Amino acid sequence: MTITPATTSLDLPSVDWLDPAELARDPYPSYERLRQEAPVAWSPAVKKVLISTFEGCSFGEQHPEIFSSSIAGGTLVRAIGGRPLIRKDDPEHAAERAPMNRALRPKQIMEVWTERFEANARQYLERMISSGNGAADLNTDYAVPVAAKNLCDMVGMPQVDPLDLARWSTDFIAGTGNVLDRQDIWDRCERSRQECDAALDETIARLRRQPDPSITSMLLEGGMDEEQVRNNVKLTISGGMNEPQHMITNMVWLLESAPEQKAEVLAQPELWKQVFTEAVRYFSPIGMITRQTTSDVELQGVTIPGGTQIGMILASANRDAGRFQNPDDFDINRAGGTNLAFGSGVHQCAGKWAAQKAIGEIAVPMLYRELPGLRRDQERAETWGGWVFRGMTSLPVIW
Ligand code: HEM
Repeated sequence: MTITPATTSLDLPSVDWLDPAELARDPYPSYERLRQEAPVAWSPAVKKVLISTFEGCSFGEQHPEIFSSSIAGGTLVRAIGGRPLIRKDDPEHAAERAPMNRALRPKQIMEVWTERFEANARQYLERMISSGNGAADLNTDYAVPVAAKNLCDMVGMPQVDPLDLARWSTDFIAGTGNVLDRQDIWDRCERSRQECDAALDETIARLRRQPDPSITSMLLEGGMDEEQVRNNVKLTISGGMNEPQHMITNMVWLLESAPEQKAEVLAQPELWKQVFTEAVRYFSPIGMITRQTTSDVELQGVTIPGGTQIGMILASANRDAGRFQNPDDFDINRAGGTNLAFGSGVHQCAGKWAAQKAIGEIAVPMLYRELPGLRRDQERAETWGGWVFRGMTSLPVIW
């Protein structure tokens, strides 16, 4: 059962001032205020208790027995039409995660996927250059097709048009964020589920005859029933597309804003991994993850009742001065511990190695190698969207 803390006798701090529209415009000033004034607080607008510090989010991640992923009435389950592993706790979660890991561990990335990621980046870069006439929108002309084609390959659906998969992903993500319960968004989810299921009919039949190293094939071989394979593939489509897409534009935007660091990485390509790690901290594409408490718990001086929906704001934790020195500076030589952009507990991102390789070590470095004159088009401003999932919707560039 989910309770609304405002109606309990427990005295939770409330952040009435927090405005989702303002978060979508620029969330970082609000995150700063949350960390300073109310690091654990009920937000009437978001309808969750929000945790905004590094310490608080890390505690939640390390205690899945209290901060459960099995959430009542969640939008993600409705958006994709079933309960994937991200909405389960161990041991059920671990059983489904194991075959997913087999497809995405670093050795598989090296041996199976690196070559594909390179071919895909090259294909869309050449297309952007030949059709661009010295100018393009880096989001729609490069980031979207590269991220989508990589994912088509990883889920074993090379027959699908990458832009269809990108649309399914966007619709599932819109459903996951559909806290205002808009019917048009549920209709979009329904249409995308049907299209995705039709493509899966064909894919699953083929993979049963001819297994391959794709995620879908590994899930089928893992002995999961077909419905559950479908749920987990739809989760991967929704979670494995937007974030790599956003990381392409985030990295370019950040490097263009820090010319000295850009010169440094162009002179020392071994620094690309650090650029990726710092960029994913600085602009974390998944701003917030959701949990539900299983019992009362005290965190940073606040008692959260059991049964409460929680928003752990990873994007805020990653700007916490209690963890990172000068957290609002982009610094590729930053010392110190890991950040929370991929989570840190049992649900830590399964696609972390794939994303680092595909984007941080292949797609963005190739862009700068082939287009040394690439820069932001100062005449046309970039646009941003979202806060739960945040990234650029357009990044005009010239070369
Ligand atoms: C920069 C890119 C990415 C970022 C920032 C990111 C971030 C995250 C985060 C924050 C979580 C939730 C962790 C938690 O709840 O503790 C997650 C889970 C997940 N991600 Fe990613 N992700 C990225 C790319 C990918 C890719 C490319 C794939 C697949 C190919 C993927 C597949 C998944 C899956 C399957 C889960 C669920 C894991 C579980 O519940 O055990 N992600 N990701």
